Parts: sequence; C-alpha cells; structure tokens
Amino acid sequence: MDYPTFLLLLSFILSIIYVLTVSGRNDSRLPPGPYRFPVIGNLLDLGHEPHRSLATLSKRYGPLMSLKLGSRTTIVVSSPDIAKEFFHTHDRVFSSRSVPETARVIDHHKFSMVWLPAEDHWRRLRRITKEYMFSAQRLDASEGLREKKIRELVRHIDRCCTSGKVVNVGAVAFTTTLNILSNYMFSMDFAQYDSVSSQEFKETVWALMEVSGKPNLVDFFPILKRLDPQGLVSRVTIYGKKLLTNFDRIIDQRLQRRSSSSSPVGVSSANDDVLELLLNLNLKDESKFSRNDMMHLFLALFIAGTDTISSTLEWAMTELIRNPEKMETARSEILKLTQNDDKNIQESCIAQFPFLQAIIKETLRLHPPAPFLIPHEAIHEAEVQGFTVPKNAQILCNVWAMGRNPTVWSNPETFMPERFLNVEIDYKGQDFKLIPFGAGRRICPGLNFAHRMLHIMLGSLIQNFDWELEGNASPQDIDMGEKFGITLQRNIPLVAIPIKL
Ligand code: HEM
Repeated sequence: MDYPTFLLLLSFILSIIYVLTVSGRNDSRLPPGPYRFPVIGNLLDLGHEPHRSLATLSKRYGPLMSLKLGSRTTIVVSSPDIAKEFFHTHDRVFSSRSVPETARVIDHHKFSMVWLPAEDHWRRLRRITKEYMFSAQRLDASEGLREKKIRELVRHIDRCCTSGKVVNVGAVAFTTTLNILSNYMFSMDFAQYDSVSSQEFKETVWALMEVSGKPNLVDFFPILKRLDPQGLVSRVTIYGKKLLTNFDRIIDQRLQRRSSSSSPVGVSSANDDVLELLLNLNLKDESKFSRNDMMHLFLALFIAGTDTISSTLEWAMTELIRNPEKMETARSEILKLTQNDDKNIQESCIAQFPFLQAIIKETLRLHPPAPFLIPHEAIHEAEVQGFTVPKNAQILCNVWAMGRNPTVWSNPETFMPERFLNVEIDYKGQDFKLIPFGAGRRICPGLNFAHRMLHIMLGSLIQNFDWELEGNASPQDIDMGEKFGITLQRNIPLVAIPIKL
C-alpha cells in the first residue's frame, strides 16, 4: 500500500477518535492555513518535497501559516521578518525542540545537544562544545590537521586523474569531512577513499541519516508509537547502538592507553585531541559531564556535521560545473594569491577570496542542507503578529522558501554569487534573509568549523582541477532534483571527471 493510500485509510479509521478528542476546539486565532482534513490534517499537502509544497502554500496563506500535521499543530515561517520575530524577538519562547520519535531511541534526546530543551544541561553542552572544539583559538590550533586531510583529498583526486576514474563529489567530500572530524575528535581516520577498505563507520552514519530522514507516521500519530508501522524506530535503534558502541570502545581504548602511559591521568599535552580534553573534563566532574553525555555528544556532532558539509559542497560543485565562467572567476581569484608559493588554499586566507565566499553564500541560499532548520517548539503560548502560536506547536522555518523569495532576492532561481559582492550579508545569524545555520540561541554551533571546511575544500577542488561531465553531457542537462531527508541532498549524485591543472 502506498503512503497516501495508507494515510487515507488511517484517516478513516481514526475519524472517531478525532471527533472525541478535538470537538469544541477554537482555532480562530491561529495563523491562516489550508483546510485540514479530519485526523490527517494537512499531511497530504506535504508531498515528497515538503519545502516546495509549503513554499507554494505560503504564497497563498502568507509567511506565517499554520497547519495540522496529524495531531501536531505546526507553524510555518517563510519570510525574514517573521523569522526575526521567532528567533530574535521571541527567541527564548521558541527555543525548544520538537523531538521526533527516532531521536528518542537509546535515550538520545535526554543527552543530545540537538534535542534537549534550551535549559541548564543544554547550555553546559553548548559551552563545552564551544570551548573545546569550535572556539577561534581551538580552530586555529587545528588548522594544520584540516589542511593535511585536504591534501589527502587532492592526492586521491590526482590518482583518479591518472587512472581516468570519475569522482563521486559528494562521496569524497563526505569521506574528507568524516576524517577531519574523526581526527579532530579521536586522532584516527573513520573512512577511506577506496571502496575496497572497510567502510563500516561511514556506512552506519549514512544508514542512520537515511532512516532518520524519512517521515515517520508515529510523529504525526503518537497513538501508533508502539506499533512502529514503518520499522524506522527499530532500524535507528540498531544503527544508533552501533555508533555508540564504537564510541564506547574508542573511549575504553584511550583510557587504557592513558593508564598504561607514564603521564599522570588528567595532565594533557598541547596537541591533545577533543577526546583527551573531554576525558579530563569527565574525570573532573562526572556529575556535570558524564560518559553518556560524551558519547551522545559525539553521535550528535557526527550526524549534524558530516552530510551538511558534504551535500553543500556537492551542490556548490554542481552549480559551478553548470556555470563554468563562475568556476573560472573563483579559480583565478585563488591562483592570483597562491600560484607564487605553489600552495593549497589556506584557512587564514579565506577573507582574501570574496568570490569564493560569495559562491558558498549563494549555494547555501539556493540549497540550504536543513531546509526547515531543525524543528523548534514553543515552550508556552505566544502572540506573533496578532496570531496565537500555541504551547508545544512545532515551528518550521522554511529557509529554502526564503532563499527563493522574489520579493527578497532578484532573479531568485539563478545562481549569481556576484549578488553577495560588496554587500554586507552574512550567514552568521544577523541577517535574517540568509540563515542556513539558523539564528538565535539554537544557531548551529559548528558554523565556524563548517565555514572554514567549505571554503578550503571547495577552493582546493577548483584550484587544482578542472571538471567535466561524463560522456560529453552538457552541464545544462545536470539533474537539479532534490531528495528530501535529514538534509536536502541531490537526487542524483554528482559524478564528474577531474582534469589536473
Ligand atoms: C554546511 C554546514 C552546516 C549547516 C548548513 C548547518 C545547519 C544547522 C542548522 C540549520 C541547525 C539548526 C538551527 C536551528 O534549529 O535554529 C544546526 C544545528 C546544529 N548543528 Fe549544524 N550545520 C552545519 C554544520 C555543522 C557542523 C560541522 C557541526 C558539528 C560538527 C554541526 C553541529 C550542529 C549541532 C550540534 C546542532 C544542534 C544545536 C542545538 O540544537 O543547540 N553543524 N545546524
């Protein structure tokens, strides 16, 4: 039975429950929205590409819209002004998370920074993450590590040039990002470029993301929770446990190594990885930062930090292959500064590459990896623009629609990095026109890490290689279709032929 038929059948069966549970409700002060069917509400309005369907609906009902997704009241935000009301003016009220059922497995939601309410424990995790991983100081100190991994990526593509192999751009970007994170955290590689080696960790992260990205009926009808009709919860449990077991083993091995080494436990050297620092923190005060906190933090960071970067890079390369003159402009900008010393692009030089920066902004405008951010939730009832947002309502901020709104951007469907030259628009949460990393207290904590990674990875790919499509295909024929999931990926992976420059 297909998904829409199943929903209709469910609608019929549960109608009676609906009548019993919602009669007498007064929704008149909710923001406007389309007609809601009994029980299923507006689920059928979502389709396979909810970011597009909701963008279309918001043209009719406005940038502040309400829907009912199964039993869930959902508020959809689709303009910079309204986004500012939610994530600046009323930021605290809307700072909680609507937690999907798949995030509750292995109690992840009780430990994970992504899903905890914005209270004390979440604040502690954010502080730890900032201090030990993503402060400017920590990022500067680890620059060499990222550059080393980017050199490995370039060497891998060099080998593809020599052997005439095509490159799956998203896959190599994923491997590079995963290894940069795993070396930063644990001083070890989690993935290899060749397909013969064991890729267990990489495959488990992929599988977990794939399953978690599927719409789950249980989230719309909590009554089905025990049935797990699509089997998503049980599959996420398997993959989640597998990853946690991996982290657990790595922590054990490190503790063993520490106890057998001569340096006293708790004394660290200058080039410590994140695990070393977090173990010290854990030993200092287990009640404030437990081993479980640590394992779930790693899980959250690997899930949130890999595919977001690799899919952005894949979209950027897709747009550049479709627009070779923009690729050439970016390349000459980089070569002007690097060709004398024959070096790869460095993080410390990013500020000197305005066109490259404009390309990343333009890519994130058109292809935000999290098209609805990560769903927020209202802590209590609030009034926005004269409408009521009920307590526990789920908030979806459609940054995909905001990026393509013709009243905000001229020629919104066209890839035009130049629009960002000589204007002060950034994605750091101040300009609500461009918030692919969110804004306010829930803004992405990995933003500065991602900023550096995206620029040096994309910069290196265009500095060292030209790119062509297989079989003389025309760049204009590239399929630009999207696949909606935990991130907004390309429907068909970008496969291209590198040509050594
Ligand atoms: C292109 C790269 C990335 C993009 C576009 C991105 C985007 C986002 C967005 C939209 C959110 C939700 C903001 C909100 O709900 O208001 C978020 C949250 C988060 N991101 Fe990122 N992200 C990226 C890379 C990373 C990286 C590299 C890491 C870490 C290694 C990371 C870790 C997280 C975490 C832990 C959260 C949850 C924060 C919280 O709920 O308090 N992200 N990110």
